[in-house]
Amino acid sequence: MSIAIELAYLIASVLFVLGMKMMNKTKSARQGNRLSALGMFIAIVATLLQIDAISLVEILGCVVLGSAIGLYYANKVEMTKMPEMVAIFNGFGGLASFSVALSDYFLRTEVNMESIELVTVISIIVSVFIGGLTFTGSLIAYLKLNGNISGSPITFKGQHAINLILFLGFLTAAVFTVMDQTDPMLIIILIVIALLLGILTVIPIGGADMPVVISLLNSYSGMAACATGFILNNNVLIVAGSLVGASGIILTQIMCKAMNRSLVNVLLGGFGQTVNEAQGDGPSITVKEIGVEETAMLFDGVSSVIVVPGYGMAVAQAQHVIRELMEQCEKRNIDFKFAIHPVAGRMPGHMNVLLAEANISYDKLIEMESINDEFPNTDLVLIVGANDVVNPAARNNPQSPIYGMPILNADKARTVIVSKRSMGKGYAGVENELFGYPNCLMLFGDAKQTITKVVSEMKEM
Ligand code: TAP
Repeated sequence: MSIAIELAYLIASVLFVLGMKMMNKTKSARQGNRLSALGMFIAIVATLLQIDAISLVEILGCVVLGSAIGLYYANKVEMTKMPEMVAIFNGFGGLASFSVALSDYFLRTEVNMESIELVTVISIIVSVFIGGLTFTGSLIAYLKLNGNISGSPITFKGQHAINLILFLGFLTAAVFTVMDQTDPMLIIILIVIALLLGILTVIPIGGADMPVVISLLNSYSGMAACATGFILNNNVLIVAGSLVGASGIILTQIMCKAMNRSLVNVLLGGFGQTVNEAQGDGPSITVKEIGVEETAMLFDGVSSVIVVPGYGMAVAQAQHVIRELMEQCEKRNIDFKFAIHPVAGRMPGHMNVLLAEANISYDKLIEMESINDEFPNTDLVLIVGANDVVNPAARNNPQSPIYGMPILNADKARTVIVSKRSMGKGYAGVENELFGYPNCLMLFGDAKQTITKVVSEMKEM
C-alpha cells in the first residue's frame, strides 16, 4: 500500500511540474491547468486512502462545503476584484499550514506525551511562523484592497525596530521550544508574534503595491505548506509547497523588475505618497483634445492600429467594446494588435485575462519586447486607460521616480490617442509627458462610453 501511495504522489508531482511548464505558453495553459488539477486529484485520493483519524463521510462533508463556498465566490467575483480573492485564498493556505502544524504539536505533546524529533519541531516552528504571518498579512492585503482599511501606507515611528525586536523574540522563543517542547506558553508566544508580524509588515505597504505583496505571500503560503509536508512526512506536500514557493518568488521578482523597483523598496512601503506630494496636483502640460467623431474618422483612414490597454480599461470594463472596435477595423482591413506591458493593470496577466474574456484571440496580444520596434511604423495607437506603462519619462527623465522602468514605445507611433477620464495620474503618481507631445490627442471620458460612441460612428460610416 505504501509503495502505491508513494507512486501516486510521484505521478502527482510529475503532473504538477509538467502542468506548470505548459502554463508558460498561453496556448497550452488550459491543458497545463487540467494536468495539474489531475495531479491534485491523484494526490487527494492517495491521501484519503491513508487517513484513519476521521471518517470518509466527515472528510467528504468538508470537501463539499469548502467547494460550494469556493464555487460561489469564484462565480460571483468581478475581474477587478481578483487580487482580493487571491489574497484571501493565500491567507487561508497559510492558515491551513499553521493549523496543521499546531494540531500536530498538541497531538504529540499534550495527547500522546511523546517527544518530537528535531526536524519535526523545527518544521512546526517554521510552519507556525510563515503560515501565521501569511494569514494575517493576507487579511490586511485583502482589507486594504477591498477598501475596509486605508489603502495608504500606515507608518509610525520605530516600526522597523519593533518588527526586528518581534522577529528576535520569535527566534528566542523558537530556540527555547526546541529545548523544552512541553511548555505550551512558548508556542503561544510563537503564535502571537507570527500573527502580529503579518499585520505589522503589511500595513506600511500602499494598496497599489498589494499585488506584489500578494505574490510574495503566495510564495510564503507555499513555503508554509512545504514545512507542513515535513511535519506530516508527506512528499507530495513538500513538492507542491516548494513549487508554489519558488514560482511565487519568481513572479514577485518579475513584477518588481517590470516596475523598476526592488523588493526591499516595495516591502519598506510608503511608495506613491511622497511622489504625489512632490509632484503636486493638476496638469502642467498643454494637451490637444479630440472628439468621438474625429476619432472615428481617424480610424477610418489608417492601415495599422495598436491598442495599449491599461488599468483604466479594467475600471471601465471596456474590453468588450474594444473587441467591437477591432471588428470594425478588421472589416476595413486594418492591421490591429494589442501591446501588452507586463505590469499593465494591477495584477499579473490582468490585460490578458480581460481581453480573453472579450474573446479576443491570444495571437493578437503581443508582449512588450516583441512589439516595441513596431510602434514607429504604426499609423495609430489607441491608449485605453494606460498611463505609467507608456510614460516616456521612464526613458528620458532621470529625475522621474519611474526612470528605468521598461515602457511601451507608444509615443513613437505616427498618431497617439489617449482614452482616459481626466488628466489624472496613474499608479506611480507622476505626470505623463506623452500627453503633451505633438502627435498625441486626448479623448476624454470613461473608456467604455467614449469607445462605444466611436464604434457607433464607425458603424454608420
Ligand atoms: P496606471 O498608470 O495606473 O493608469 C491608469 C489610468 O487609467 C489612470 O491614469 C486613469 O486616468 C485611467 N482610468 C481610470 N479609470 C478610467 C476609466 N473608467 N476610463 C478611462 N480611463 C480610466 O495604469 P497602467 O498604465 O496600466 O500601469 C499600471 C501601473 O500599476 C504601473 O505603474 C505598475 O507598476 C503598477 N502596478 C502593476 C501591477 C501589476 S502586476 N499589473 C502591480 C502593482 C502595481 P483618469 O483618472 O484620468 O481616467
